[in-house]
Amino acid sequence: EIKGFAFDLDGVITDTAKFHAQAWQQVADKVGTNWTEDLADGLKGISRMDSLEMILKAGGHENDYSQAEKEKLAAEKNDNYVQLIKTLTPDDILPGMLDFIKSLQASGYKMSLASVSLNAPVILKSLGLTDAFEGIVNPASLKKGKPDPEIYVRAAEVMKLDPKQVIGVEDAAAGVTAINGANETSLGIGNSDVLHEADLIFPDTAAVTIEAIKEKMG
Ligand code: BG6
Ligand code: MG
Repeated sequence: EIKGFAFDLDGVITDTAKFHAQAWQQVADKVGTNWTEDLADGLKGISRMDSLEMILKAGGHENDYSQAEKEKLAAEKNDNYVQLIKTLTPDDILPGMLDFIKSLQASGYKMSLASVSLNAPVILKSLGLTDAFEGIVNPASLKKGKPDPEIYVRAAEVMKLDPKQVIGVEDAAAGVTAINGANETSLGIGNSDVLHEADLIFPDTAAVTIEAIKEKMG
């Protein structure tokens, strides 16, 4: 029986995925990696340093930068990103998500946050959602990022639930892989070609309701 939900943040609760993409594209231009939609999709859910490595590798530049230079590139990206997310308000919660979160609260489900973003606490605050969650997995404490299951295993622990009692909610293929690896039920929001590994797929956030989930789970 499902008793809790573990939420990804970027691209699920708010559309920061577009800001991450915008800020990473500047890095790609700088290092000379061609920016493509596949690359942008592949970066979703991936930690900051792992994202940088993917961008360098996509252009064959993985050996061109020292660790110090990489850290500088990642810091520049984050500075740009932090500027972009300064505009966030509760109006930037994706369609249907506030109602969904409220209905989960009203029905007694537990909720935790499973975002690898170090900026997640600031974003939740800007959206007015800090109090909605039982707990937030601290991404700084993770040994591995998505697609490793660790973050979703921890998200279940935060709620004191067995993974079998948890639905993980994601917009990224790497996140769906992480949920499945944690033995939770995966709910993917977005393109079904990208999210084909998900147990339940919804085209957009507005379609996600408790009723629709129950119907799909049979
Ligand atoms: C994830 C995003 O939620 O957080 C990724 O989907 C991002 O695109 C990652 O790279 C890390 O975020 P931050 O804010 O710590 O750089
Ligand atoms: Mg995401």
